[in-house]
Amino acid sequence: MKILITGNMGYVGPLVLRRLRESHPRATLIGYDMGYFAHCLTGASCLPETHTDVQHFGDIREVPDHVVQDVDSIVHLCAISNDPMGAAFEEVTLDINYRASVALAQKAKKLGVKRFVFASSCSVYGCAEGGPRREEDPLNPLTAYAKSKINTEKELSSLGSETFTTTCLRFSTACGMSDRLRLDLVLNDFVAGALASKQIKILSDGTPWRPLIHVKDMARAIDWAVQRDYRDGGTSLTINVGSDGWNYQVKDLAAAVAKAIPGVEVLINKDAQPDKRSYRVNFDKFTKMAQGFLPLVDLQEAVTDLRDGLMRMRFQDPDFRAGEFVRLVTLKRLRENGHLNDNLGWKNRV
Ligand SMILES: NC(=O)c1ccc[n+]([C@@H]2O[C@H](COP(=O)([O-])OP(=O)(O)OC[C@H]3O[C@@H](n4cnc5c(N)ncnc54)[C@H](O)[C@@H]3O)[C@@H](O)[C@H]2O)c1
Repeated sequence: MKILITGNMGYVGPLVLRRLRESHPRATLIGYDMGYFAHCLTGASCLPETHTDVQHFGDIREVPDHVVQDVDSIVHLCAISNDPMGAAFEEVTLDINYRASVALAQKAKKLGVKRFVFASSCSVYGCAEGGPRREEDPLNPLTAYAKSKINTEKELSSLGSETFTTTCLRFSTACGMSDRLRLDLVLNDFVAGALASKQIKILSDGTPWRPLIHVKDMARAIDWAVQRDYRDGGTSLTINVGSDGWNYQVKDLAAAVAKAIPGVEVLINKDAQPDKRSYRVNFDKFTKMAQGFLPLVDLQEAVTDLRDGLMRMRFQDPDFRAGEFVRLVTLKRLRENGHLNDNLGWKNRV
C-alpha cells in the first residue's frame, strides 16, 4: 500500500506519520509539503520526516502526476489552516484549501487512487446556538477558512465512487504535543501562558463552546478513514470527529489548566466583543462507525501532556503569541524576510 500525505510537515502530520507507520509497517509513506513550518521543531528527538519513505517539497497548487501515480490512498492535510491566517491571506486560502484540493482529488481519481481522506473542520458550524450539531444540520461558516473547507467537502462528495472513496473528517479543535507544536490553539495557548507567565488570558468572555480532540486521536481517526470501505458509510462520507465528552466552554478549559498548574491566574476579557464562533458537536455517527479508533485521550491527560512537553522544551516565553509557534506570525515573517511572495510561494524557486 502506498499512502501520500500532503501537508505532513505541520502540527498534525508528524503524529499521522507515526500512527500510519505503526499500523501499516509495510506501507510506503510519501510526504508532500511546502515546508512553511519545517524549521519550527519543538523538542523532536529526530526529524519527523524520517518516518516517510519519500519526502517531496512542493506546492499543492502544482502537484506533478508522478507524485500521485501508483498511490492507493491520499491523506490531505495540507492547508492554510486556521481562521487568522485565512483572514490575512483570504484568496490564497481559497486557492490552496479549496481549488488546489479539488484539483488534487480530481487528479487522484483519474490516476486510480482508491481513497481520499480530507481534513475538514467543525468550524464549518460557526455560530451554532442550541444543541450539538450533526453532520446534516445547516452550516454557518464565519471565516474564509471555514468556507474553504465547506466548498471542498461539497466537491468531494460529488467525486466519490465505488473505486474512489472520499471521507471528509470534520475535526474538532486540535490540542496536544507534537514535534511541531502550535501555540495558536486554545488549550495549547492556555498551557503555554500558565507555564510562561502564570496567567491564562482568555481573549473572549469565556462562554463560547468548542469541541476538542487530541492530535494523537486525530491520527487514529485518519487511520480509520484510510481503511474505510465504501460499503460502510457510502462512497462519500462527511463525519464529525471527536467525542461528546470533549464539548467544553472556553472558561472550563482554562479552569482545567489552572487546576493542573497551581498558582495560575485566569483572566477573562470582560470587554471582549462576543466571539461568534461557538458550537457544540454531536459525534454519534463517528462513535458508531469508528469503533476501535475512537478518541482515547481526555482533557486532563492532554493538559499534562502539553505541560510536560513544554517543560521538556524548557519553554518560558511569555511573549509566545508573537513567536514562531503561532502560524500567522511565522508566515508573516517569511514574507517580510523576502522568502515568500504575496501568493505564499517560495521566492527562491524557479
Ligand atoms: N489543528 C487543528 O485544530 C485542526 C482542526 C481541524 C482541522 N484541521 C485540519 O487538519 C489539517 C492539518 O492541520 P495542522 O494543524 O497540521 O496544520 P499546519 O498549518 O500545522 O500544517 C499544514 C501544512 O500544510 C503545508 N502547506 C500549506 N500550504 C501548502 C501548499 N500550498 N503546498 C504544500 N504544502 C502546503 C504547510 O507547510 C504545513 O506543513 C489542515 O487541513 C487543517 O485545516 C486542523
